[in-house]
Amino acid sequence: MAPEIKYTKIFIDNQWVDAKSGKTFDTYYPHDGSVIAKVAEGDKADIDAAVDAAKRAFHRNSEWRQLDASQRRLTLDKFAGLLARDADYLAQLESYNNGMVLTMAKMMAHSAVNFTKYFASLADKFQGNTIPADGAVFSYTLKQPVGVCGLILPWNAPMLMFICKAIPALAAGCTVVVKPAEQTPLTALALGALLAEAGVPAGVVNIVPGFGPGAGSSLTHHAKVSKISFTGSMEVGKIIQQAAGAVNLKRITLELGGKSPLVIMNDADLAAAVPYAGRAVFAMSGQVCIAASRLYVQSGIYDEFVKRAAEFAKAIKVGDPTDPTTQQGPQTDEPTMSKALGYIEKGKAEGAKLLVGGKRIGNKGYYIEPTVFADVKDNMSIATDEIFGPVQSILKFDTLEEVIDRANNTNYGLAAGIFTTNINSALQFSKYVEAGTVWVNDYMTLAPQTPFGGFKDSGLGREYGRDCLDAYLEVKTVTINLPKKI
Ligand code: NAI
Ligand code: MG
Repeated sequence: MAPEIKYTKIFIDNQWVDAKSGKTFDTYYPHDGSVIAKVAEGDKADIDAAVDAAKRAFHRNSEWRQLDASQRRLTLDKFAGLLARDADYLAQLESYNNGMVLTMAKMMAHSAVNFTKYFASLADKFQGNTIPADGAVFSYTLKQPVGVCGLILPWNAPMLMFICKAIPALAAGCTVVVKPAEQTPLTALALGALLAEAGVPAGVVNIVPGFGPGAGSSLTHHAKVSKISFTGSMEVGKIIQQAAGAVNLKRITLELGGKSPLVIMNDADLAAAVPYAGRAVFAMSGQVCIAASRLYVQSGIYDEFVKRAAEFAKAIKVGDPTDPTTQQGPQTDEPTMSKALGYIEKGKAEGAKLLVGGKRIGNKGYYIEPTVFADVKDNMSIATDEIFGPVQSILKFDTLEEVIDRANNTNYGLAAGIFTTNINSALQFSKYVEAGTVWVNDYMTLAPQTPFGGFKDSGLGREYGRDCLDAYLEVKTVTINLPKKI
């Protein structure tokens, strides 16, 4: 049964309001492409109202700014409890709007609770220093919230992305205006209601659904916004970096996806490496920023590995996301499906060997067969571009040195992995590969405690980890002149 959709309006000052233009946009169920709700379409006027509310809530005298840090922690902890209470419903809503399989959405909801608890716990743990400055002075630093933060979300893991940006910003004492992705606004709105229920004061969290060029761009150009945190495409990341300097100097955190290499050495445990490599690119229908979309396999095991990888992909059960036995759901929207199918055609045309899949499934919803290409060359489009679909590209290599250089020959640098039983190979690869996260005999494991972000064009800054609140804090130095003689 379809989950109830309770919230479809704009959330400002803990109130639900229509778009000032009165406009709405349709949101869909990717399983069959049906319209499931009409959502208020925010634009510049709504962003202005949301930023004004966030600015008022950030005033030094506001309830939020006057709250003790420990009370901020407890409020966010209370929100974690509400998330846990509603986790099943939120998972259903996430699956309904994004198309991810329900079992995955449930894991995500569980992660959302854990990440929230971790970020909340940091609210009263950040502190400045006392500094042995030169001269007859006493110097110390304060860490203070940066101000109103614009949080622009992607659609591939909407709920977890909301949590990973909003909760650190709030723990730091900031106020936020969230712009969910146009494909998946529903869980963000539901989380707004839960934050209000947890006691977050009016204006601290505002949520404006809408499109990138309208609501998104207005947020990135707003003079009263001090910080933008964005997850999405490299293309829009670069636009946001420019926008962030256009009217004031916004701090930015960008997470822009990748073309992550996963390396399988001759000495790897194939029984583990094959399923890991499969899940690393087919999970969430391949719509994952850290997808292992370049799979480098060493020549000694290449033929055997390719055979087993094809068997793994063929056995993936694709279908209705609510069926607990389904392993791969639909792509989230039509453009994403068409983009991936376009890359599959390029893969064939450029001479890669199609072993499995390669086609759309049916003509309802946005399903693509799990697809495996072997004998892929580094310069083929399927080896250079982020596909964001269920497409495994297998490339052959001979030596560790060679594969490190080939892995690094890209503008992306989000993640990388290696399967090997040789400690030296593991350490050398981890040292020299250009990526923000490296997994050894593992892939995709993320924890709230470990910093996450990209090298090179995969992004700017880090999220998660003990220091993640720094992205939402300014350091202030206070220097006090001391009497020269006592
Ligand atoms: P996108 O980067 O256009 O959208 C992400 C978010 O940015 C959405 O909320 C969107 O409304 C907003 N946005 C778009 N244009 C904007 C602008 N000019 N100013 C401010 N905000 C703006 O990504 P899209 O078009 O949904 O997906 C295209 C490709 O991007 C995907 O196929 C994938 O390759 C990549 N992508 C990577 C993600 C990641 O996890 N790093 C997440 C989503 C997409
Ligand atoms: Mg776009």
